[in-house]
Amino acid sequence: MKELERLFANNLAWAQEMREEDPDFFSRLVQQQAPEYLWIGCSDSRVPSNQIVRLLPGEIFVHRNIANVVVHSDFNCLSVIEFAVDVLKVKHIIVCGHYGCAGVKAALGPEKHRLMDNWLRHIRDVARMHSEALDALEDVQKCNLLCELNVMQQVRNVCQTSPVQKAWGSGQELYVHGWIYDIHDGQLRDLNVSSCDD
Ligand code: CO
Repeated sequence: MKELERLFANNLAWAQEMREEDPDFFSRLVQQQAPEYLWIGCSDSRVPSNQIVRLLPGEIFVHRNIANVVVHSDFNCLSVIEFAVDVLKVKHIIVCGHYGCAGVKAALGPEKHRLMDNWLRHIRDVARMHSEALDALEDVQKCNLLCELNVMQQVRNVCQTSPVQKAWGSGQELYVHGWIYDIHDGQLRDLNVSSCDD
């Protein structure tokens, strides 16, 4: 279990460094979390939300799943959105996809009759809605376009959820954004599909 010991050693060193930099850091976090952002991203280990936008613990509320999908019957994701919007009062919900997403790639291929196919079905639906544009492209471009289209669809899905509709109905300030991350250069790009209630 040497490889796990390394994680505990890392943790100890990290906690010490944080305290040296800011002695009140942890005691402040204990009081409450007040993040301004909810991040809905892919579980991919190469797209760690806090690190790529350089935010500290306490600054971003996070939900990640395979291919950053927001499904209206997924009580896990809906509960996260509700808590973030209703209780934490985040100002921004960011749906962040990434190019080369393995989940999106799998949704373009044949079904393998695994449990995951049912999850990827949501992305196949997105692909079917845009089949004309996608069919004109080859492998990598096709996958990258579907990564973008998937983010745009998930932004729409977030907007239609009951917590977001309720927030907008009561005049709460809340924006929903669609971003995409490129693993090649580590950079984020805004897909300019931001939504608010007006
Ligand atoms: Co992915």
